[in-house]
Amino acid sequence: MKTLRLGYIGSGFIARFLAVAMKQVRHCELTAIYDRSGAKELAAYAKENRLGEPKLFKSVKELCNHCDAVVIFSPNYTRLAIMEEIAEAVKAGAPLKGVICEKPLGRTVAEAKKMVELARGANLRTSYFENQLHMNAINNALSQLRPQQNVMGDFTLARSTEEHAGPHSTWFWDPTRQGGGVLSDMGCHSIAVCRHILTPEGKPNTFLKPVAIQCDTSLLKWGQPKYRRQLLDKFGVDYTKTPAEDFVTGIITFKNPETGQLVKGQFTNSWMYDKQGLRLWMDAIGPGYAMEVNSLISPVEIFVGDEAAEGVADAETALEKSTASRGLLSVHSNEADFYGYTTETQDAVDSFLAGKDAMLDFEYGAEVTFLVQAAYMAAEKGITLDLTDENVKKELNSYRSLISQGKGADVLFS
Ligand SMILES: NC(=O)c1ccc[n+]([C@@H]2O[C@H](COP(=O)([O-])OP(=O)(O)OC[C@H]3O[C@@H](n4cnc5c(N)ncnc54)[C@H](O)[C@@H]3O)[C@@H](O)[C@H]2O)c1
Repeated sequence: MKTLRLGYIGSGFIARFLAVAMKQVRHCELTAIYDRSGAKELAAYAKENRLGEPKLFKSVKELCNHCDAVVIFSPNYTRLAIMEEIAEAVKAGAPLKGVICEKPLGRTVAEAKKMVELARGANLRTSYFENQLHMNAINNALSQLRPQQNVMGDFTLARSTEEHAGPHSTWFWDPTRQGGGVLSDMGCHSIAVCRHILTPEGKPNTFLKPVAIQCDTSLLKWGQPKYRRQLLDKFGVDYTKTPAEDFVTGIITFKNPETGQLVKGQFTNSWMYDKQGLRLWMDAIGPGYAMEVNSLISPVEIFVGDEAAEGVADAETALEKSTASRGLLSVHSNEADFYGYTTETQDAVDSFLAGKDAMLDFEYGAEVTFLVQAAYMAAEKGITLDLTDENVKKELNSYRSLISQGKGADVLFS
């Protein structure tokens, strides 16, 4: 059996999480890591857990010569330059089979399209990492409901949320580097999940045609003086000058091109969700049937009283973005698997070994970027955007949201 050798670019939060997932994935090993912050620790973890004997490399080119597939886990603002270097390395003879990129594929439609162009120009298989479409909780619920769906008709409404109290790294908070606020960061997950749930069985993941989008972006918590100061002190970002949205909600209308049926996906994301920690919540309604997933309801709970609370070293080992270390707390027994990180990695590994694109390719990632940017445009204009209008599509090709340009005050303070 062949093994796919992976090279990680980026060794921060998500790279560490995916290394945990890799312990549950077959036919792959970690052989190369780009030498930036966290690389040594990640290499040590890989060795300790027998994921491979990764070597650290100072250049993207060298790294590309020591793996079969590169995984881009670096910040959003570094994507394109890294993809350009990968394409150059392939032209210079690096024997790469494929490239994987974490969400979002691009901060704008133009960036995402360029990512597709570079990967295809280098003849690479692609995988867009959108873990939530690989969540067994969602896909098992869907497969249980297929018989009901066949008799009663398709889902007509899907709602998807991802919420927590705010990101861990400075660059996420800076809209000019990240590409916006929580819509750019997590709206991409929820928009994609809605479409996935609504897609009829056996149809491609872009089968449903987006026809309209409405959206509201707002700054509910982190624009208040006390919290603005906290952001300035902790991350050095000034939300009086360059604010980003910490709450977004919107609705996308999709049309089934075969039946003409209109269905709706509602997405909600926040960085001001002050509960136990990260919550993924999805539900969907069809005629006579429904499904629901709530990541904060775990079969495992712990209780830490006030007296014992001082002894808790790291609440985040129990739950991502945990905000509390006392009281009744949720614990996930296998968070990396629950969020879909194992299944998305296995899918990419199996696909690349078979010489194919993964279930979600870069073109799919670019389509998600298009919808996220359409949501920003709808919020900015304060209208329901007609996604069938060729002029709107054209405008989106060169669109950069005001928030991502550092002009969020025009949108969020008015
Ligand atoms: N799917 C998910 O649930 C999920 C969760 C978190 C992050 N992400 C995505 O993963 C990516 C990384 O996020 P993170 O939370 O790990 O960030 P992070 O800040 O924790 O880590 C970033 C890593 O990239 C490295 N890096 C910085 N600049 C670089 C450059 N120019 N070239 C190469 N490497 C560079 C850093 O040294 C660090 O190792 C982001 O695109 C983010 O959107 C996805």
